Amino acid sequence: MIRKCLFPAAGYGTRFLPATKAMPKEMLPIVNKPLIQYGVEEARDAGLQHMAIVTGRGKRALEDHFDISYELEHQIRGTAKEHFLAGTRELIDSCTFSYTRQVAMNGLGHAILCGQPLIGDEAFAVVLADDLCINLDGDGVLTQMIKLYNQFRCSIVAIQEVPADETSKYGVIAGELIRDDLYRVHNMVEKPQPEDAPSNLAIIGRYILTPDIFGLIADTEPGKNGEIQITDALLKQAKAGCVLAYKFKGKRFDCGSAEGYVDATNFCFEELYLKGK
Ligand code: G1P
Repeated sequence: MIRKCLFPAAGYGTRFLPATKAMPKEMLPIVNKPLIQYGVEEARDAGLQHMAIVTGRGKRALEDHFDISYELEHQIRGTAKEHFLAGTRELIDSCTFSYTRQVAMNGLGHAILCGQPLIGDEAFAVVLADDLCINLDGDGVLTQMIKLYNQFRCSIVAIQEVPADETSKYGVIAGELIRDDLYRVHNMVEKPQPEDAPSNLAIIGRYILTPDIFGLIADTEPGKNGEIQITDALLKQAKAGCVLAYKFKGKRFDCGSAEGYVDATNFCFEELYLKGK
């Protein structure tokens, strides 16, 4: 059973400066809710109760967000505004939150390894909160992936097709199609130029990882941009055993870019906020 979800959240968010100068990028709101909360809700909806957040300097607002604010709650109790905090309170009451810090920015693989003390020796999910995933027609992306994990019991990455000239923004996989939406991974390259990309199937920020990944990351040399890449550790895992890549159902917005952020805001405003969801 997967119980824990890891949120690497130590990055500086330089693409959103100056907004992220004194505020974590994970706290940027999509309409009225911070990005990280969408991720935590997706994890909670998938049955995960333990949220393990890898933070860094200047990220205290994340911890405060997933805590009670007595003063604020007292202030709005009995008013029309009370419902604004109800969903957040429900999350705080139904999940545990634990934190550790990544003190040096050595890449996503390194961030995940920093989370090992919070995860221990069990399979876990990873959510990169700036990839906002929404499926209005059914299960959220993590729920879809956990169902697959329960069937296949190996690491799984979420993928989507991207235009060929965008491969350099993603980890890109190649594999053998074992079902209409599922590949067994043979190759994986971090941010390849289009001419070096093994396909146009890009990894997006949802992973299920088996705990042997920690040892593999610890043995992974710095790769693209001199950083320890989860993609490189996953390739080792794929070669030694099995890694699946799953074309998920739903929409994904790259909220690490201004364009994706605006698209996500418009979509959530129309489809969630106005409809009271
Ligand atoms: C990370 C991963 C990359 C993946 C991407 C998804 O890159 O390294 O493999 O495709 O997330 O968003 P980042 O966007 O953090 O540079």
